[in-house]
Amino acid sequence: MSDKKPVFKPNKEFAKNAAIKNMCEYHELQDKAMEDYEGFWGDAAKEKIDWIEPFTNVLDESNAPFVKWFDGGKLNVAQQCIDRHLETRKNKAAIIFEGDKGDVQTITYLDLYKNVNRFANLLKEDFGVKKGDRVVIYMPMIPEAAYAMLACARIGAIHSIVFGGFSAEALRDRIDDAEAKVVITADGAFRKEKPYMLKPVVDAALEGKTPVEKVLVVERNHEDVEWVAGRDYSYNELIKDKSAVCEAEVMDAEDPLFLLYTSGSTGKPKGVQHNSAGYILWAQMTMEWVFDVKENDTYWCTADVGWITGHTYIVYGPLAMGATTVMFEGVITFPDAGRPWAMVENHRINQFYTAPTAIRVLHKMGEQEPAKYDMSSLKVLGTVGEPIDPPAWKWYYEEVGSSKCAIVDTYWQTETGGHIVSPLPGATPIKPACATLPLPGIMAEILDPTTGEKAEVGETGYMCVTRPWPSQIRGVWGDEERYVKSYFGDVKKDGKAVYFTGDGAVYDEDGYITITGRTDDVINVSGHRMGTAEVEAAIKKHPNVAEVAVVGKPHPLKGEGIFAYIVLKADDGVADEVEEVKAINNIIKKEIGNIALCDDMIFAPGLPKTRSGKIMRRILRSIAKGEAITQDISTLEDPSVVGKIEEMVKG
Ligand code: PRX
Repeated sequence: MSDKKPVFKPNKEFAKNAAIKNMCEYHELQDKAMEDYEGFWGDAAKEKIDWIEPFTNVLDESNAPFVKWFDGGKLNVAQQCIDRHLETRKNKAAIIFEGDKGDVQTITYLDLYKNVNRFANLLKEDFGVKKGDRVVIYMPMIPEAAYAMLACARIGAIHSIVFGGFSAEALRDRIDDAEAKVVITADGAFRKEKPYMLKPVVDAALEGKTPVEKVLVVERNHEDVEWVAGRDYSYNELIKDKSAVCEAEVMDAEDPLFLLYTSGSTGKPKGVQHNSAGYILWAQMTMEWVFDVKENDTYWCTADVGWITGHTYIVYGPLAMGATTVMFEGVITFPDAGRPWAMVENHRINQFYTAPTAIRVLHKMGEQEPAKYDMSSLKVLGTVGEPIDPPAWKWYYEEVGSSKCAIVDTYWQTETGGHIVSPLPGATPIKPACATLPLPGIMAEILDPTTGEKAEVGETGYMCVTRPWPSQIRGVWGDEERYVKSYFGDVKKDGKAVYFTGDGAVYDEDGYITITGRTDDVINVSGHRMGTAEVEAAIKKHPNVAEVAVVGKPHPLKGEGIFAYIVLKADDGVADEVEEVKAINNIIKKEIGNIALCDDMIFAPGLPKTRSGKIMRRILRSIAKGEAITQDISTLEDPSVVGKIEEMVKG
């Protein structure tokens, strides 16, 4: 039997009106980019961006890997997302918000303009926020989170959103690293019809020395919170007398737009910096190409604004193109696993974008649910963040999309700003669980890391991008060297360092790209990136822990789970294992948050190490998966430890 993946051709009716209608059009675009790279991007930037002043140079690579796009150009990203639509889309819904309890709010482009301007005036007038200041946003999924982002963009402040599931310690680290002057938060919000709190986490993060001068609190659930006089202010009060007109700051194309902290293979999370023009250009172009959003469409991405998907594909991308974007506060399985499909029916959603983890959970909890709703409005389904497994793909395609919607398996990262490898719904014949081809303009290639040559069909290589592109990461905040080392240190093509994503990938016989997963010590839990070093650092804070190694292990719902091998200090023993596990989990909760809790913990007698003391993670990964050990273990410092750990894991 052939192990070839089945191929699904684009829906013909859909393709007729698609932004890119067939593979000829795709190749024409990609050929144009290859022949005249600067011409391709220069034309796109002229067409798509509402420049205040035109750019004079498309790409400056003279200081590579530090690059500049659209030098000399001036713009404001909030104007690109709002003001330029007012003439034709004033009364069109910009955001449709559905709260946890089912409350719905429609915010038109005119409403958005006014709300963002009031917010911007508040930050300027009451808090003295200026161009270049860092503002941390620690918010639930409510429209004010989007207003806060766009208000920062309007006045040139750099926002840094911290996902609401991160702990006070994690929040403190990110605030300190960015030297943020202001935190925008909420008292809390609602989850499963019950209030939950965010403000107390901010209070804890600001204890002791902090660069933060002011905290703005959006009152959403109206629960009691502490107010620190002179520091904490109610948004609901201050916003009342603010003018709905706020002149937009004129920004250089390369002025920073935001920071977003993400995990690497070593050390603390890095502040990934994205700049104004290049980021917004690609956010808009990928919305138009990959989701094929039309003027009267309603688009929903289920991510949280705390992650890059929420930045690019809930707020910036959809608004830059003038689309209607849905924002959801709640939990997709509450009150039952039909919730998202009820929302598709109620809002007549045309494009639906989520993570494989969510698809697996919805499949498991509500296999028959999609059939109960009218989902005929759906045209494009998207996935992001982790590989999707064939059963989940099949259910998504057949039951959610009625075998008529294209599934766009979008591959990208925090650092890429937007999609880099993805099917185009009207053009690309799709294969289950395959990201397919680089998007036009993106020189994504799988390279052999030792030779720098293009990888052979069927050989796993390194997923690289060989030319800079507009929405690429511009730097790691405050650490130029880390930027160069993290992304341009591993692979060279024709003697030149190229961007390496950290992922492995493989070409098939059609040149299609399948992502095989991280090649480094980053694990992907429910589509969320987690550095093993971060989890290890947290566990080491427990006084009884002598050594720890954390690896990823396949997990049926989360994609990957966290597996920790812990060596306790000699005299401690493991008499009270349950208590020890609890104590360690509490530390993880405090240091990082619930998302980093371990799925498995083994109290090992030792760790497999080379004689020079390097922990052999590959062996630990194999043991966690229950695989046979194929590596030579005879050269280990203590080979017997491998068998002992294997027994413990099996037992
Ligand atoms: O390993 C890849 C995986 O997610 C990583 C990026 O994580 P993050 O920066 O948090 O951004 C997630 C949302 C874009 C990648 O290095 N990844 C992302 N998309 C896919 C994927 N793995 C397989 N297939 C995808 N479609």
